[in-house]
Amino acid sequence: MTALPDIQPGLLKFIKNTNARAPPPSESLVFGRTFTDHMLTIPWSLIDGWKEPTIQPYGPLSLEPSATCLHYAQTVFEGMKAYRDDTGKVTLFRPDKNMERMNTSAARLALPTFHGPALLELIKELVRTDKHWIPSEPGHSLYIRPTLIGTQRAIGINPPTEALLFVICSPVGPYYPNGFKPIALYGTTEFNRAAPGGTGAFKIGANYAVGVLPQKVAANKGYQQNLWLYGPEHDLTEVGTMNMFVVFRKPSGGYELVTPPLDGMILPGITRDSVLTLAREHAAGKSPLAELTKDLEVSERRVTMKEVKQAAQDGNLVELFGAGTAAVISPVDRIGYLGEDVLIPTEADGMGPVSRPIWKELVGRQMGAIDHEWSQFVTK
Ligand code: COI
Repeated sequence: MTALPDIQPGLLKFIKNTNARAPPPSESLVFGRTFTDHMLTIPWSLIDGWKEPTIQPYGPLSLEPSATCLHYAQTVFEGMKAYRDDTGKVTLFRPDKNMERMNTSAARLALPTFHGPALLELIKELVRTDKHWIPSEPGHSLYIRPTLIGTQRAIGINPPTEALLFVICSPVGPYYPNGFKPIALYGTTEFNRAAPGGTGAFKIGANYAVGVLPQKVAANKGYQQNLWLYGPEHDLTEVGTMNMFVVFRKPSGGYELVTPPLDGMILPGITRDSVLTLAREHAAGKSPLAELTKDLEVSERRVTMKEVKQAAQDGNLVELFGAGTAAVISPVDRIGYLGEDVLIPTEADGMGPVSRPIWKELVGRQMGAIDHEWSQFVTK
């Protein structure tokens, strides 16, 4: 049997948007509400494999009302960012990781997988096409949203025989409307995001659909995000749409940076991995971070609300933050938990002694200001 065609960048077709617009001023951007002039589409079918990729004007898709993505949430997506520095250099941050994770998510939903480097080449072409949309102000970037959906017309539940991969781009500033200030979390105990053997470790649309109601409950109570607490001991798992880190003071006076382990319920975030890598390299004396103690232990382990509350009472809770592509690093200053607020220390700039040096290095590497293999050149 001959293998079906994979994604072929060489077949790229280009349809120029003749109604191209001028990008709006960066200060008017609301996260994810503005889209650039073009998008990339690549259809797939079981018979033909991956078909001709097309860069075309951003616009509505045509789908059958019976398309499986509309009924059974056959949707996987990625979040990645392109940065433009003040010399005009455009870079992507660890995009190969997004390609790997998208394939893992696609396989979990029985959607077609693809050659990651081929899709990445096409995404770079899309970014080059709309590069004038990338804001270069600090904290701003082009958010890229590759998405793969099942498009087969079918009411029965089966692996789709037709699918569509599309990529859209949105110029963005901070994720939260309060800018880069610390956020307040509401501890969700009545709903679960993920369970053992479930889909929590995959970037699929359904995982985010179940978060909308808890997020609304949190907002109604005056908190910006919900904190997913799992199991009888209320393990801290994820912060709304981000991975989560807690910093405890150790008896030695140093710090322990803790995040829940990848036990199948936690999204293997690329920002999560970057934070862990930077912290571990620092602790090992490789690429040390300025103004951070060497007495830093990095743990992937369970952490419960009891431990967090106790540390807060004892003065040993140093900081708590979320980490994700959209929000980068988002400090937290309180958690609403079973009717009371657990207060989390923050320093004058809203951050803490561990998140600040990590954030500085991360942003330096993301924006291309620090030369590093994580930052991939796209265009000048
Ligand atoms: C991201 O951080 O990129 C995400 O996918 C979260 C999304 C809710 C914006």
